[in-house]
Amino acid sequence: MFGRLFNFSPFEKEVKDNCARIVEKIRQYIRDRKSGKRKSSVSNNSDLLSLFLKDPDVFNEDSMIYELIDLIVAGSLTSQYTNLVILGHIATDPESRDKLRQEFSQFRTDYQQEHPECKDLDNLSFINKVLNGENSQDLEWTNNVIMEALRINPPAAMGGN
Ligand code: HEM
Repeated sequence: MFGRLFNFSPFEKEVKDNCARIVEKIRQYIRDRKSGKRKSSVSNNSDLLSLFLKDPDVFNEDSMIYELIDLIVAGSLTSQYTNLVILGHIATDPESRDKLRQEFSQFRTDYQQEHPECKDLDNLSFINKVLNGENSQDLEWTNNVIMEALRINPPAAMGGN
């Protein structure tokens, strides 16, 4: 991926050096995870790197490094920009903000009635431990806000407009 970067000017050299540093940092992280020196911070080891590490026939060290860089690049600004648009919406539309809060509180109350073991979780722990791709579909207004943010300000619009 970075092997074809040109190296003519001081700036290009700096970019190339920085890319090499990033690759080495990720390489070290992968080695630490492999040896058990560092652990996944995602519950049930459900992060992608844990998945890659389980399949050494498919993912060697270099392919894991470039796969991770690809995902970080593809996923960072897109998610960041979408979150900014949503925060802007929440800050300027109190009615929608109240609906989001109400929907989440209702979801939480209903869930805790069925799962009393979760009643002491604070909001953030509840989101991290309970919300997933499937049950978050029940948050209708929240999903509408996300879809509208993506529709009105698409962070990865193709073809230009
Ligand atoms: C709001 C968030 C995101 C938006 C709007 C978005 C949008 C897009 C778009 C429009 C494409 C091109 C699809 C195509 O070629 O038809 C794409 C590709 C891709 N995205 Fe995202 N993305 C988002 C988040 C993420 C995240 C979080 C990840 C990874 C963790 C990710 C990883 C990728 C990858 C790997 C591809 C290339 C897929 C392929 O061609 O095989 N994206 N994304």
